[in-house]
Amino acid sequence: MADNYLEKRHEEVFGKGAGKGISRPSLDSLLLKNRSYRGFDGSYDVLPRQLDTIVSVNTKLGSGMNAQRLRFRCICGGEDASKVLSLIKLAGAHPEWGLPLPGTEPRAFIIVCATCEENPIVDIDLGMSLEAMTLKAVEMGLGGVIVRCFDAAALREALSLPLQPLIVLALGKPIERISLVPVHEGDSLKYYREDGVHYVPKLTLEDIKI
Ligand SMILES: Cc1cc2nc3c(=O)[nH]c(=O)nc-3n(C[C@H](O)[C@H](O)[C@H](O)COP(=O)(O)O)c2cc1C
Repeated sequence: MADNYLEKRHEEVFGKGAGKGISRPSLDSLLLKNRSYRGFDGSYDVLPRQLDTIVSVNTKLGSGMNAQRLRFRCICGGEDASKVLSLIKLAGAHPEWGLPLPGTEPRAFIIVCATCEENPIVDIDLGMSLEAMTLKAVEMGLGGVIVRCFDAAALREALSLPLQPLIVLALGKPIERISLVPVHEGDSLKYYREDGVHYVPKLTLEDIKI
């Protein structure tokens, strides 16, 4: 193509030096690592500027009608983190696991709120935001879990949030080993643990194509 267009475009998107010995993680490897982690290194403190970096991906995302209705509250440790922790539920499918285990709790959170009533467009924006933020976290060596199961009214009051919270993203330095397992339509999709590994069943390409 004229003017080395592809090479220039590659540099624009991935930065100078990309493809010239400086290796960057592929999207596939980030997606694979982008699992739901529910146990974290208790000796590692996520810093406020790391949460700002993660939230900043939202300034580059698409948004229905470009309305940009999502707002974010960042919480790093302290009393507020304890309040969030007491109001969220992890691994609701397996209450017998008693997660998070003592000493491995998440201590950093991003609470996502909206400036309007929740609606399908806001929910699509929310999904895009969560995927982008969790991918950014993985790129930074962090990880987390999206939490929908929480007491929204109590959380709003506890943190004096001006808006209704839609979802909580719990973050930290993950210590869990997680593996994906290919399964087929009709198989159980319930995640499980064996010998210290957390397994997540995923439908194959053939199963999801119609
Ligand atoms: C919209 C949404 C809500 C979720 N809510 C919770 C939750 O309340 N608690 C929890 O432990 N995990 C929650 N998860 C994590 C899912 O359980 C997880 O995505 C699923 O088990 C598949 O695992 P994976 O993310 O590693 O692929 C949620 C995920 C999504 C996308």
